[in-house]
Formats: sequence, C-alpha cells, structure tokens
Amino acid sequence: MNTRELQKEILRLKSERNCFILAHSYQSDDILEVSDFTGDSFALSAAAKKIDCETAILCGVRFMAETVKILSPEKHVVLANPGAGCPMADSIDAEKVRELKRMHPGYAVVAYINTTAEVKAECDVCVTSSSAVRIMENLDSEGIIFIPDRNLGRYVKNRFRDKDIILYDGSCPRHANISADTARSVMKLHPEARFLVHPECGEDVVGLAHFVGSTKEIMDEAVSGSAGEYIIGTEISIVQHLCRACPGKKFYPVSNDLVCGDMRITSLGDILDALNGTGGEEITVPPVILKKARRSIDRMIELGR
Ligand code: 13P
Ligand code: SF4
Repeated sequence: MNTRELQKEILRLKSERNCFILAHSYQSDDILEVSDFTGDSFALSAAAKKIDCETAILCGVRFMAETVKILSPEKHVVLANPGAGCPMADSIDAEKVRELKRMHPGYAVVAYINTTAEVKAECDVCVTSSSAVRIMENLDSEGIIFIPDRNLGRYVKNRFRDKDIILYDGSCPRHANISADTARSVMKLHPEARFLVHPECGEDVVGLAHFVGSTKEIMDEAVSGSAGEYIIGTEISIVQHLCRACPGKKFYPVSNDLVCGDMRITSLGDILDALNGTGGEEITVPPVILKKARRSIDRMIELGR
C-alpha cells in the first residue's frame, strides 16, 4: 500500500474500532495527518485524561504510552512501535531514586515526565519542559532532587536560587549533543534569525537562545512571532512541520544531527498493525505502581495549570 492507501485504511479502522491516535509532535507529517491529537508531552498527558475511546494508540516513545495508561487505566493503550524507547528515561531506575531520597532526607523529588512508571511512582511530582518552571513556583519544598535531565534541571535551578536543587546526571543524547560552537556558526550564517531552543540542550546552547521552550512553545513562538527566520534547537521534524505551516518564513535546523531515532521508528504500517491487533504492544502497569505514579502526574496537571 502507498502512503495515501495506508492512511485511508487507518482512518477507516480507527473509527470502526473506536480507537484514538495520539502522536507526539516529533512524528512525521503522514502520521500527524491521521492522528486525533498531536502535541508535546504535557498536551498529550492532558488530552489522555479526556479522551473517550476504548483503545488509544500512542505514536511516540514508551514513557509517553505509559503516561497515557496511568491516566486512562480503563483503556487499552498500545505503543505503536514497541522499540521506541527514550535513553534519558532509561538512565534512572526506581532503586536509584530511593538511594537519592536516602541521601537527601526531606527533599522533594521532581521528575521530568521522561521517566518510567516505576520511577514516577517514587516521585512527588512530575514536570514537563513546558510546565517545569510553573510547577516549581507552586512547590513549597526548599530542597529538591531533580531527575533525570541535568539540562532541564539546570535551566530550572538558575531560576530558583533560593532552593537547594540536586541534579541527577542524565540527559537526552540528541539535544545534549549540540555544541555551542555549532549553534554559534549557524547563528553567524543567519544573523537575522531568532534562535529557539529546547531546555534539554546544554546550558551554553540555551545561553545563546532568544527563546527557550517545549516543543509546542517553540512551534507557537515560530508561528506567531514577527521574525521571518528562525533557527530551531530541537528535533529536526519540527523544522519540517514549521516549513509546511509557514511557507512565508525560513526555518533552519541548529544541526542536521538533531534526530531522535526512537521518535522516528514509528511508521504508518506500525499503526495499521496496531489497529489490526497484529503489532504494537499493549502497555500494562502494575496497579500499585500505577496508583503511586498517578499521584505524581495528577499533581503535575494540578500545579502546572
Ligand atoms: P516535549 O515536552 O517538548 O514534548 O519534549 C519531549 C521530549 O522528549 C523532547 O525530547
Ligand atoms: Fe528521549 Fe531525547 Fe528522544 Fe526526547 S529526543 S524521546 S528525550 S531521546
């Protein structure tokens, strides 16, 4: 089947089987076109709470599908491509969090949403890149253990000098790999362009940015901003989506290497297989873990409003 035929079959099957397709904004255009909801991690979590369907198919990575399951335990939640993981999420496990808590008694544990369900279950509150600062403003604790992204953690820490924030040494191997020299050379090539950066990038790259925000915030800023040119400091798919959304503006990737292979492995064929029950992986989370992890995510939604 070609792309159009696959899309047509997916649209037919998803209404026949009462399925909802959720896709992170890093997915390709052909997937976004057949999705019922697209957005960044925070928007996907909020949408998952409200959707009315029997099955939700998640096009993104495993921690996102787990988050949907935690928020909608009564639904079947299927990760379209079971191979889609997140190295940052896998960099810390529940035992490591318990060890950090033993080392820093009384400290609140704040977890980036890019974590496994077991890790979320050990935490006080989750944050996303778009809600981290707002949630920290609403959090009473003076002592914080921030896991697992040291770059998002550093970005937050710089805004809360009065709090003692311990950073775990995890990172996104794709965003953290971009050097300030690379960013400076692209900025030199396009001196009129505004530089929009995801906080998973290193501190020195973030320091060069005109704007720092989540995937959705970067897209909103580029679409609504008055500038005609933008350098995009996040996954390269966002450059492609923006070029399509705003043909009158120019968008440049900060680096052609900023590609998340995990986000890219999902295909229309995977979605079709998931709909047919011949592919994908149904996500299960043990009830005790689910209940505890749910508290951290509910708190995120409550404090992030
Ligand atoms: P967002 O919160 O911006 O969607 O980011 C998720 C992610 O994994 C970025 O690498
Ligand atoms: Fe994980 Fe980085 Fe990929 Fe986001 S871009 S899913 S943090 S590896």
